[in-house]
Amino acid sequence: MTAALGRASACGKLILCGEHFVVHGAPALALPLTVVSTEVTVHEAPDADGPLLDSDAPDALLDLAQRMVRTALDGLGLAPRTPWRIEARSSVPLGAGLGSSAAFSVALVGALARAAGQRLAVEALNVRAHALEGLVHGSPSGIDNTVIAHRRPIWFVKGAEPELLDGPGTLGLVLASSGAPRSTREAVAAVGVLRQAEPARFASLCERAGELTTRARAAFQAGDATALGALMNENHELLRAINVSTEALDRLVVAARGAGALGAKLTGGGRGGFVVALLPVGGEGRVSAALKHAGATQLLRVMV
Ligand code: MEV
Repeated sequence: MTAALGRASACGKLILCGEHFVVHGAPALALPLTVVSTEVTVHEAPDADGPLLDSDAPDALLDLAQRMVRTALDGLGLAPRTPWRIEARSSVPLGAGLGSSAAFSVALVGALARAAGQRLAVEALNVRAHALEGLVHGSPSGIDNTVIAHRRPIWFVKGAEPELLDGPGTLGLVLASSGAPRSTREAVAAVGVLRQAEPARFASLCERAGELTTRARAAFQAGDATALGALMNENHELLRAINVSTEALDRLVVAARGAGALGAKLTGGGRGGFVVALLPVGGEGRVSAALKHAGATQLLRVMV
């Protein structure tokens, strides 16, 4: 066993309102998802002639993860052949819209910086993690790495400083997986094509998304579950209008609402992945059972 030089962990994320439209300038509201996490530990590896990645990610992702390691070393001014073993373990569902790549990015940069004896402020960590997210997603808005780096609810507008918010602590959410893996990069690209094809319609949807996200922020901060739920439902309709929902996601959303959820929508890039449902007080059992019956393959429960 070699000594650990540095270790860092990062949570997942949940977008409550505004995904996709945030790429095009609208605001979005995102929350840290602390029931899942990614941990990166850096060990000495004196016999290695470069960084060795020891990850539990599927083989298909290892090449990308290696590139992320090289970019992270470069971003920290560290030698590309630094002889370290980088161990990564994660419980964040992969390719499911819950921030698996951003969690890896934030934890990786944090652990490498610690191993090198560098003290990084959160914003410096975030900028470096965003560069890694670019390798995964193309041109991400930066919302995922930002909410994960800060580990706080955020109000996010692309290119602006995030506003850190306090959650009311009274809202119960259940997240349900459709079981279908998806690619945020592809979903974002498809929405970009739609925007080009129908600019006026897209601009109007984007404006509506901005308005409802603004109202969702107020409802979230006030702990007004009824108002927030209605806005989540509206948000799902806008996401359907830009073709990022699927039959399986719609089925979960309808099942949750039918079982008494105050609101339900897809979360993240869509085209698969998870939905999020806002629970009525005492309604967890019914909503969870309905989601399972409608095909959910994994449920996560959180209070925000
Ligand atoms: C992905 O978690 C959120 C999207 O809005 C993409 C982005 O903001 O980069 C779909």
